Amino acid sequence: PLKLGIMASGNGSNFESVAQAIKNGELDAKIQVLIYNNTSAKAAVRAENLGVPSVFLDHRKYKNREEFDGEIVQTLRQYDVEWVIMAGWMRLVTPILIDAFPDKIINIHPSLLPSFKGVNAVEQAFAAGVKIAGCTVHLVCLEMDSGAILMQAAVPVLPNDTPETLHARIQVEEHRILPIAIALASQHNLHQLNKYTQ
Ligand code: GAR
Repeated sequence: PLKLGIMASGNGSNFESVAQAIKNGELDAKIQVLIYNNTSAKAAVRAENLGVPSVFLDHRKYKNREEFDGEIVQTLRQYDVEWVIMAGWMRLVTPILIDAFPDKIINIHPSLLPSFKGVNAVEQAFAAGVKIAGCTVHLVCLEMDSGAILMQAAVPVLPNDTPETLHARIQVEEHRILPIAIALASQHNLHQLNKYTQ
């Protein structure tokens, strides 16, 4: 089984979808640890219910992003993590984390990249008036939301949508493709792919 470390800042529904896929036998993996950085993150409650160990790391306590990432790397190593999954992780990363897990960090983003990078991606897509929205699972590199794309899924934007209803439709697809993309990623040598997009 793949040894996964999940990083989440909020609700944690993507974390739960990975846990479900493992439970259902769709993904041969084990979640070694959940790292979260907000005390209010519902992801922590989900971890407890799922019996997954969780560690709270407060970015506000560190001098800079590098020191915070150093602590994350130490925790991931302590839990013997092989693949790092950012499932709603809302912090920028530094080379400290990237270099510790080369080509083994995966992120999910609620837009069809390279459109609408950064925060509030769904609101950005909504404001742009696009008629097709979606989500992307990609490898993480230093530049935000820019690593090699592993999988994408599209959804329609409907006439009566609000950013919230659109996000809900996107999340159904996120929950479907994230576990598949993790399995795909682990079966391939992704070094070339990631290098190619830099
Ligand atoms: C997801 O929609 C994910 O794509 C997004 O945050 C949400 C987390 O939901 N990530 C980003 O915006 C990263 N920049 P969840 O906590 O329920 O999994």
